[in-house]
Amino acid sequence: MMPGFKVAIDGPAGSGKSTISKRVAKQLNLTHIDTGAMYRAITYMALEKKINLDDEESYKFMEDVKVRYEKERIYVNDLDVTSLIRSDLVTRNVSKVSSFPYVRKILVHIQKQAAENIDVIMDGRDIGTVVLPNADLKIFLTAAVKERAKRRQKDKEELGIKQDIDSLESEIIERDLKDSTRKESPLVCADDAIVIDTTHYTIEDTTNRIIEEILKKEKYHGRTTNEGR
Ligand code: DC
Repeated sequence: MMPGFKVAIDGPAGSGKSTISKRVAKQLNLTHIDTGAMYRAITYMALEKKINLDDEESYKFMEDVKVRYEKERIYVNDLDVTSLIRSDLVTRNVSKVSSFPYVRKILVHIQKQAAENIDVIMDGRDIGTVVLPNADLKIFLTAAVKERAKRRQKDKEELGIKQDIDSLESEIIERDLKDSTRKESPLVCADDAIVIDTTHYTIEDTTNRIIEEILKKEKYHGRTTNEGR
């Protein structure tokens, strides 16, 4: 049996994946890895380096870049970019950057390695389908677009940024479309994933629902690794 207990959380932008994964990880002593943060970190670096974002060849700079997600912080070459990756500029460009097979190949490899031999909850778009196809539990989170736009608006307000709901909604629709229609590992629900629609659920409800599913798994109780505990 694969060492370590693995949970895959996938879903569209604003479905609550990261917030909820973080909470589940804390309560059940799992390591949380946010793979969206890795795609954002590469997007940030690409913008910093002023490469041609449309040219797949120009992402070769990734050979000299080390990406690491640790304790809810994201690093590139030991530089903490956790806040920098949340800018609008990064958000607007990350779907394009993450559509290139070359970029995905490198990050998927890093993600598979990071999940090896540990108890992990990993969130993204292709975790249950590509990164951890043998995960012990796969969850697909969804929510109505309007609700996801409202959540984004609230997040932004907390950062002191005002944006009207209609423009947030169209940004989310555009990103969903790009993420689910790209050729290379698009956002799709794995056949064996449990689908949870969080539109009418609080963060707490969804967290508890996922914890319930994890506690049903015999392997969780018989874990062999100590990582994250
Ligand atoms: O979860 P997020 O919004 O931070 O993700 C940012 C982008 O990264 C998202 O628009 C699509 C991409 N992504 C991906 O292609 N595959 C993943 N496993 C995670 C994110």
